[in-house]
Amino acid sequence: MPDPRLTDLSRRLPELRLLTEAADLQHYGRDWTRRWTPAPLAIALPSTLEEVQEVVRWASQQGVAIVPSGGRTGLSGGAVAASGELVLSLQRMNRVLDFNAVDRTLTVQSGIVLQHVHDAAREHGLLYPVDFAARGSCSIGGNIATNAGGIRVIRYGNTREWIAGLKVVTGSGDLLELNRGLIKNSSGYDFRQLLIGSEGTLGIVVEATLKLTDPPPPSQVMLLALPDMDALMQVFALFQARLRLQAFEFFTDLALHHVLAHGAQRAIEGEHPYYVVTEFDAADEAAEEVALAAFGQALEQGWVSDGVIAQSEAQAAALWRLREGITESLAARQPYKNDISVRISAVPAFLHEMRALLASEYPDIEVVWFGHIGDGNLHINVLRPADMAEDAFIAQCEHVTRLLAATLQSHAGSISAEHGIGLVKRAYLESTRSAAEIALMRGVKQVFDPAGILNPGKLLD
Ligand code: MLT
Ligand code: ZN
Repeated sequence: MPDPRLTDLSRRLPELRLLTEAADLQHYGRDWTRRWTPAPLAIALPSTLEEVQEVVRWASQQGVAIVPSGGRTGLSGGAVAASGELVLSLQRMNRVLDFNAVDRTLTVQSGIVLQHVHDAAREHGLLYPVDFAARGSCSIGGNIATNAGGIRVIRYGNTREWIAGLKVVTGSGDLLELNRGLIKNSSGYDFRQLLIGSEGTLGIVVEATLKLTDPPPPSQVMLLALPDMDALMQVFALFQARLRLQAFEFFTDLALHHVLAHGAQRAIEGEHPYYVVTEFDAADEAAEEVALAAFGQALEQGWVSDGVIAQSEAQAAALWRLREGITESLAARQPYKNDISVRISAVPAFLHEMRALLASEYPDIEVVWFGHIGDGNLHINVLRPADMAEDAFIAQCEHVTRLLAATLQSHAGSISAEHGIGLVKRAYLESTRSAAEIALMRGVKQVFDPAGILNPGKLLD
């Protein structure tokens, strides 16, 4: 017997594609976090923004919660539907709508995969610079919902910097056209920026106008082995002063161990505790000389113990795989993830405290760190031992996260740098945002989503 609410939805929108098979509910009801059991009411796959509006109006009248859904590569449970919600997948709304050569913008539907945005920009000789390992499956709508960062933030900033305009459906079903691609627009509150990073709790992004830029000059990729943690920020300061960096990413020997076991190729022999993959502009031989000189100086100072510079595109890709392959190499272990940030100047002091904390609180547990150290963003992936029950493991990780949140608070950091709060970090929001801020967030939510149907329980409880 079909749910009468779904019968009503199909009557109102006979063309709307609706899925209710168990396999579809499983597939669309979860993201890359595997902690929650998917249990959505159904999956709606609208093909027009008018359909999105009508689904929202129906949900508001029926009191059905909506989980907006893109590529579901999120790591904070923001796209999980575990409580009878309607998953509203933007998967079919995945087209490029317009390229404007004068404005240098690309207008897309929000279900488009990030890789397709990169390809479309490249076809016009331009670059959409936000980039990370999930590029082949994440959607631009999800990137906007979490203000996604990734591996080139050091050069280009986060998603927020690249959004010239948004079309958004609010919780009342209204369609808002935010900023309309303007560069200068001093006409009151910028709802575009408010919507970016709001994790689907204020509106459903249906279209985005993306800024594009010139592609960077030819670059080179270098892998460095470091003898200790203090060297990390010394090398960063040196390389940043001498080179024009596109990326500066770090990982530990344990991360390397997992990524090698998952098929990546070793590039530096021997045991080293820390590694950096860096990419920098190197248009000519002179630029390459500067890079080698910086490497030589780091070697002399004892800040690096070994290094390799890619000699071909294939080798550059192999070096990048050592860093970008880490998440995938750990995925089968369903790690407990922290995604934290502090100001770059606070990184050295914070790292020391954090390392002591993790060593004392996880004595017998594998803790893999890596991340965008040039942005002050660190990923901590904690791996459950085979003989430890999942509940006990999560309880221990939550306990450590509370301690970590307090350490972050004392360094004015953030409990979520780029993955979002979602369900995973909701309990720790107070460590990063004040009570007054959270009260205002609740007020804003009430204005955009008066019936409380948009991704309830995510970000705010
Ligand atoms: C990455 O930078 O690889 C991911 O954002 C981190 C993670 O999987 O924890
Ligand atoms: Zn990351």
